[in-house]
Amino acid sequence: MSSFWSAWIIVLTIACIVFCAVILTWNLKNHVGVKEGESTGHEFDGIEEINNPLPKWWTYMFYATIVWSVYYFAAYPGLGNYKGFLNWTSSNQGIKSLAESKAAVEQNKLDGKNVQLDREYEAANETYAKEFAKYTSRDILDLAYDPAALKVGQRLFLQNCAQCHGSDARGQRGFPNLTDDDWLYGGTPDKIKETLLYGRKAAMPAWGEALGEQGVKEMTAYVLSLSGRKVNDKDAAAGKAKFGMCAACHGADGKGSLAHNLPFGAPNLTDNTWLYGGSHGAVEETLLKGRNGQMPAFKEILGEDKIHIISAYVYRLSRPEESSK
Ligand code: HEC
Ligand code: HEC
Repeated sequence: MSSFWSAWIIVLTIACIVFCAVILTWNLKNHVGVKEGESTGHEFDGIEEINNPLPKWWTYMFYATIVWSVYYFAAYPGLGNYKGFLNWTSSNQGIKSLAESKAAVEQNKLDGKNVQLDREYEAANETYAKEFAKYTSRDILDLAYDPAALKVGQRLFLQNCAQCHGSDARGQRGFPNLTDDDWLYGGTPDKIKETLLYGRKAAMPAWGEALGEQGVKEMTAYVLSLSGRKVNDKDAAAGKAKFGMCAACHGADGKGSLAHNLPFGAPNLTDNTWLYGGSHGAVEETLLKGRNGQMPAFKEILGEDKIHIISAYVYRLSRPEESSK
């Protein structure tokens, strides 16, 4: 908590305690001018007001509240380094101390001290690293038909890839389906591993300005016609005339960069499989705004051993029926 709010709470608390104490002492004195137990002379509907003292139990409870608040106040971690006499920490400070304990573990390592947690962590790491390294010397194609390796691969996939590609690897809008043998960058073991190691950045430019509203409409019609969709023929013909702008990446036939051995990751537009959706509106949006899908690089995050195994798992995803290569 910032020291401003600490100060604020301190001032408020002191004011409240003082206020309560003043009210209490004031009420313990007789200000009415008649003796205790006698009538004040006020009468309402036949009910007389008597000058009775505060009930004892009420007074004591009030004292107790004041004593409690003073005690609580002293325990309150307030300004500066004051932690209260009970050494309370707020949840914020708790998080900080977690960070501190991690730092302490690191420091212990530097100092050559080996606390139990470090030991367990390192032992686990060694065991697992060996487990993964066992597979590295084997071919990805070989691993892709080894049930034990696939199981490890699946676990790694669920931990690292499912949040984008889905736990069934079927993808979602903007995240490719990995089970359909329709590839942007290639489905060979080498290409898959390359994708995982270094990531991929797709750059589909925006065409809104170059084509104009009418041009986008026409190009959308042509793109949809490529996969056999019913469209306005006149629009499609006008779009086709300008498709040269797209050919550098998607190929003159629209079959995508992979079909032409190009590395851009431009999808096949003729197969009615869509990364961003095949509705009129979705294709129009793609053309107007462009698309920039990014597959993160996992080399630093997972290390090559694990990626080797996941590559086998991904390779096999689109070939579930085969029982051997
Ligand atoms: C943050 C989201 C995200 C995560 C996490 C992620 N990916 Fe991707 N991945 C993408 C996107 C987006 C693309 C498509 C890139 C593009 O549009 O060109 C992609 C593309 C791919 C491709 C290329 C597909 C093709 O058709 O060539 C493969 C293979 C792949 N991912 C596998 C994985 C694996 C395995 C993991 C886990 C290690 C993973 N991805 C984790 C977002 C992600
Ligand atoms: C510089 C290369 C490049 C050019 C030029 C280019 N594209 Fe693309 N296009 C891509 C890439 C890369 C993607 C994939 C984007 C992603 O994965 O985020 C893409 C995606 C698309 C998609 C989305 C496909 C899907 O499955 O959702 C459509 C539609 C498309 N492009 C049409 C066109 C049209 C029409 C033109 C010409 C006006 C064009 N592109 C020009 C590279 C290009």
